[in-house]
Amino acid sequence: MRIAKSRNIEHWQAGLARWDAEVLLAHVLGVDAEDDEVLRDSAVSPSQQRRFDAMVQRRLTGEPVNYITGHFRFAGLDLVVRPGVFSPRASSELAVDLAVARLRRRRGRRIAVDVATGNGAIALAIGAAVTAAEVWGIDISAEAARLGRLNARRLDLDNVHFATGDMLAGLPAALRGAVQVLTIHPPYVARDEVRTLPVEIRRFEPRHTLTDGSDDGLGLVRRLADDAPGWLRPGGHVLVEIAPYLARETATALRRGGLRDVRSHRDSLGVTRVVIGQL
Ligand SMILES: C[S@@+](CC[C@H](N)C(=O)[O-])C[C@H]1O[C@@H](n2cnc3c(N)ncnc32)[C@H](O)[C@@H]1O
Repeated sequence: MRIAKSRNIEHWQAGLARWDAEVLLAHVLGVDAEDDEVLRDSAVSPSQQRRFDAMVQRRLTGEPVNYITGHFRFAGLDLVVRPGVFSPRASSELAVDLAVARLRRRRGRRIAVDVATGNGAIALAIGAAVTAAEVWGIDISAEAARLGRLNARRLDLDNVHFATGDMLAGLPAALRGAVQVLTIHPPYVARDEVRTLPVEIRRFEPRHTLTDGSDDGLGLVRRLADDAPGWLRPGGHVLVEIAPYLARETATALRRGGLRDVRSHRDSLGVTRVVIGQL
């Protein structure tokens, strides 16, 4: 299969090339990629075959499948994805689950903020799971905030709002001291490491979505750790989605910012993905 042989694609797990092809074919046919039977039994017209071939051709250059189809299923939500805005990863669903569990612990007004929100995946999934919560997504990119709003409209989630801003600066001042949960999946690749990323990431995802330009990739994490206590309500949480090799330094940053009970959480593969601290 041509996708499996492309050097522009990171083949880090067996079966990924086949999955890519199935997602592209399902998109062309307008069916669910996870429904093997429907996919196998569907007839493919000549024009559908041409569209599929053109999409495979794009994939061979390394272009991510989500940008080609314009969609990604995240936490059960169909999200619109666009080049120029970071494409969400399934691994962020862990941060959503941990945030939702903490948000549900409270009665009364529940406010969650997702900093560096991209197309809004984490904010929207939290808002869909806790419809009584007021959720804000903030991104430095106006294009990302616009895409977040589009996704909220499509999903009918009027409890999820988006703003443009540098970290927490874009939030309404009235939320100071009232936020229950603050999430962030920051651009954590160290400045000099960007060039070592796979082609499909480095060539297709904007640089500001991958690195904050710092030496170690933790520039935004340190800023959030310092600023979060001013926005959290007592007992509120900060959840940082991070690479496993940065977990220890992230925990140190949260403690230095004044947060307590700092803990790391592992994903289903046993790898640390989220570090949480509490005010
Ligand atoms: C790794 S992406 C994560 C996007 C989204 N949270 C997700 O998981 O799909 C990092 C995001 O941080 C945003 N960003 C970079 N610098 C920022 C800043 N100073 N303030 C707010 N957002 C920033 C980028 O535009 C990008 O959308």
